[in-house]
Amino acid sequence: MNIDLTDKIALVTGASRGIGRATAIRFADAGADVIVNYVTSRNAAEEVADEIVRLGRRAWIVKADVSEKEDVEMMFEFIRNEIGRLNILVSNAATGGFRPLLAATNKNFDAAFHTNVLALMYLVQSAMPLLENKPTRGKIITISSHGAIAGLPMYGLVGASKAALESLVRHFTLEIGDKGVNINVVRAGLVATDSSRRLPNAEKLFKDQIIFTQVGERILLPEDVANTILFLASPLSDMIQGETITIDGGAAIRGA
Ligand SMILES: NC(=O)c1ccc[n+]([C@@H]2O[C@H](COP(=O)([O-])OP(=O)(O)OC[C@H]3O[C@@H](n4cnc5c(N)ncnc54)[C@H](OP(=O)(O)O)[C@@H]3O)[C@@H](O)[C@H]2O)c1
Repeated sequence: MNIDLTDKIALVTGASRGIGRATAIRFADAGADVIVNYVTSRNAAEEVADEIVRLGRRAWIVKADVSEKEDVEMMFEFIRNEIGRLNILVSNAATGGFRPLLAATNKNFDAAFHTNVLALMYLVQSAMPLLENKPTRGKIITISSHGAIAGLPMYGLVGASKAALESLVRHFTLEIGDKGVNINVVRAGLVATDSSRRLPNAEKLFKDQIIFTQVGERILLPEDVANTILFLASPLSDMIQGETITIDGGAAIRGA
């Protein structure tokens, strides 16, 4: 069965770059119309929207800082008024802020947790009236990383925020699962994007990934992660609920 998202409307947060961009384009390729959210990169968001239109689908561009409740509410006001429905929400946007925990401030902590955790709460609360109790199940997907379960240098705040995110998803399941909505996490390995290139020691980390990956000498691409998100956005995954699926080419098995 091919994955066909024809007639579906998907919102992808942080769709201007990296994994969000690849997901928005993959969705359009599968037939969905896509709302491209961004916060600073207007030109990049426009390029993604152009690509979606080239694929024959509709695209809307919405600027909103997902860590701000008012911004999220305004984005959903736009969706309700201009589009009128939503089938898929991908809460992808996150912030890095790589630093030692011993030097972290309250402000650093708040930034990581507001963008990486609290945003999901705002987004799900706003999206539920549009997603719930429809003929096909609504789908919510968010993105975590190995830092949720491992200790990685300079990654304490982000890792802790991802652990909280995964827990939030499991607990949301209890409240939204019976309302016709699936919520799941994609836990991605290291992908070459703007944020991961800023990781301390990035070059070595990418080299190690090739060694640890158990699928031959192949790196993980944003498009690989997008394919897993696509599966979780489709009816093929209707019985996957509150789960965290790892996509890393088997790297975690080797402790990477
Ligand atoms: N890259 C990896 O190795 C990796 C591994 C595991 C998990 N992940 C996760 O995958 C997701 C995407 O990561 P990425 O590496 O693709 O990121 P990226 O290339 O750095 O892009 C980040 C995207 O998020 C948007 N964004 C950031 N803060 C935002 C905010 N407050 N409101 C709205 N949009 C915001 C950015 O928008 P602008 O362009 O407008 O700034 C951009 O589109 C994140 O959740 C990340 O933690 C990444």
